Amino acid sequence: MKTKKVLILPGDGIGREVCDAALPVLTALNLPIELEYGDIGWECWKKEGDTVPQDTWDKIARSDAVLLGAITSKGKKQAEKELPEHLQGTGHKFVSPVIQLRQKLGLFANVRPSYYISGQGKPFNMAVIRENTEGLYAGFDYHGIPEQIQSLLSHPNIDKSGFDNSAITLRLQTKFGLTRLFKFAFEYAVKHGHKRVTFADKPNVMRDSGAFAEEVLDSVAANYPEIEYDIQNVDAMALWLATRPEQFGVIVAENMFGDILSDLAGGVMGGLGLAPSANYGEGTAYFEPVHGSAPSMYGKNKANPSAMFLSIALMLDYLGFEDAAEKIRVAVQETIRKSKNLTYDFGGDASTSELAAQIIDNIENNKQQLSAAIITVGDELLAGEYHNTNLKEISEFLQDKGYHVAEHLVCSDQKSMINRAVNKYVGAVDLLVVSGGLGPTSDDVTRYAVASALSLPVEFNEQSWQHICNRMSSFKLEVCDKDKVQAYFPQGATTIANSAGIAQGFTLTRHNTEVLVLPGPPKEMSAVLNKAFENRQSNRIAQHSKHQWKLLGVTETQINVLIEKLAPAIAKQVKYIWRYPYLNVSVNCDDSQPEVIEQLQAVTNSLEAFTVSRNGLNASQMIEATEALCWKSDDVQLEELLQQLPGNGIGPTYYVNTIPAISDVLSTGSFDGTLEIHVQAPDGEPRVLAIPLRDEYVTEYVKEFASWCYLTSES
Ligand code: IPM
Ligand code: MN
Repeated sequence: MKTKKVLILPGDGIGREVCDAALPVLTALNLPIELEYGDIGWECWKKEGDTVPQDTWDKIARSDAVLLGAITSKGKKQAEKELPEHLQGTGHKFVSPVIQLRQKLGLFANVRPSYYISGQGKPFNMAVIRENTEGLYAGFDYHGIPEQIQSLLSHPNIDKSGFDNSAITLRLQTKFGLTRLFKFAFEYAVKHGHKRVTFADKPNVMRDSGAFAEEVLDSVAANYPEIEYDIQNVDAMALWLATRPEQFGVIVAENMFGDILSDLAGGVMGGLGLAPSANYGEGTAYFEPVHGSAPSMYGKNKANPSAMFLSIALMLDYLGFEDAAEKIRVAVQETIRKSKNLTYDFGGDASTSELAAQIIDNIENNKQQLSAAIITVGDELLAGEYHNTNLKEISEFLQDKGYHVAEHLVCSDQKSMINRAVNKYVGAVDLLVVSGGLGPTSDDVTRYAVASALSLPVEFNEQSWQHICNRMSSFKLEVCDKDKVQAYFPQGATTIANSAGIAQGFTLTRHNTEVLVLPGPPKEMSAVLNKAFENRQSNRIAQHSKHQWKLLGVTETQINVLIEKLAPAIAKQVKYIWRYPYLNVSVNCDDSQPEVIEQLQAVTNSLEAFTVSRNGLNASQMIEATEALCWKSDDVQLEELLQQLPGNGIGPTYYVNTIPAISDVLSTGSFDGTLEIHVQAPDGEPRVLAIPLRDEYVTEYVKEFASWCYLTSES
């Protein structure tokens, strides 16, 4: 393929940071693209009173596409103040560089896709297509009403203020402008598989221009009979975009309405940190994130670079590199769904460059772990009447199959709650397991809730009903009509046999999420879960393995500091779990890389003195099978406690004492200061450990430390 020329205009503020962070993706994708850089924006204005220097126009003319970071725009007065002295008062007018690009290059269609990436709510996929050259941005904006139009304007407030103390902005809509806009919108809908085009306007107030636009729309739409179209008031659109984005496809609007709706659509998508845009016309095209230059954020390496990645993807589509564009979109989505550390707007503290590196790494290595979420349903679980055993089992099962279990939610038997819970995960994880509420009674509503969350009807499954009848009669149970509900499934679901009970499970996939629904009783749940995975390959990523250290006598902070220093490559994935008296430290990582192996080894070496085991066992478990062993103490009460440990009282003798004595501590109940534990093996040096004397469970510490001393003694 012929090399394409792309002009990069980083512009102002965070525009520069997101460009720097995201552009290496082009190298990772190995595309025949040549980059050139140019100047635009506030710095140019401050230097020469022009936001787009001639040199930049020349560069645009010889490029195939332009990628813009962001630009700073300020109000009229502020802009004039920041001009160099020799240019002040010389009539230089600040015109936003993006408006110049759009108008001078005839880029009349501003496309701002907004689609579901992650989070609450139903998946949606829409695009705001904003008119880019006329409307309220046409430039007819006056303070002091020009004489030529005064005769048109009669208004009681003008009578009170006078023409000089009034301002006016005109909304221009032309047949030429509207026709090409609507044509573009319908063509875009056809190309991207959208079934509906909605024109957001305000015809109930702007009656004549509204009726005119409607006429133009009708005549263009007549050429696209397969696409549904409608006109809605822009205020109502704002409401619906926020509440029901899944109902829309293409939303087309006048410049200003489109400006406002596209920020809203960006918010619905998850924030302006995600929202990309493209400006198309007859000649070239330019691409930019919807977010601005965010001066207050500049220099902090903090902004979310995703919108820039997605804008680059739009540019690659335009240049004919559709596969590469799709790779970027998938990588952004996967990273946002699965990364343990995102940028501040997602509640994380990853920097711009760190998140960008994760996205690029996803493209290069393409080995993200599959993710799963679990919903267990039942009022009885929420009431604490039962241990939520299914959660433990499902979670262990899935992890064994290689899934990363990202979230768990316990939900009541309420249809609306289950519906909401399912909606939360569909589209956001690879697998959603729902367990409970499949039986025949009135509190079993899971099948209906799942169907409604996925907007599917439930259908009666005759085969499944036969199966239920057979099973019930084989158990000598009377079949009644009520049992029939167990043979209803969301349309398109595949049923899964339940060898331990009656109600079958089912599975179906929507928006890239498999929803696997299991019965609640633990035995039945296991049977169906196993059946569901019977013929599947494990998704375990070969290189990922678990490394763990069970530590005694250290604090979380100490170890955290040490690991961050010794093993920066894996530090972020390390988990610390405090299980008194142990600190369990573990990490699941790709240990095929030499750098990681080295760092794991360094951690292991420096933790050696505190490591009781590497396999999760604690010291008293590890000596469980020991018989010939005797525990003694000068403190009768401690000696009694030590008898709970393995040992037949006739082997080698270990003396365990504490300062203060355990019996004193327990009888006075005074817990403060430290407890020194002394353990003397038959040969070798005495070992001493001091721990905070926090409560009566320090006795556990004493027992574990004593066991560990036995384990590590010379004899
Ligand atoms: C946008 C921006 C611009 C606009 C500004 C910076 C002139 O808000 O691209 O949406 O209003 O079009
Ligand atoms: Mn805007």
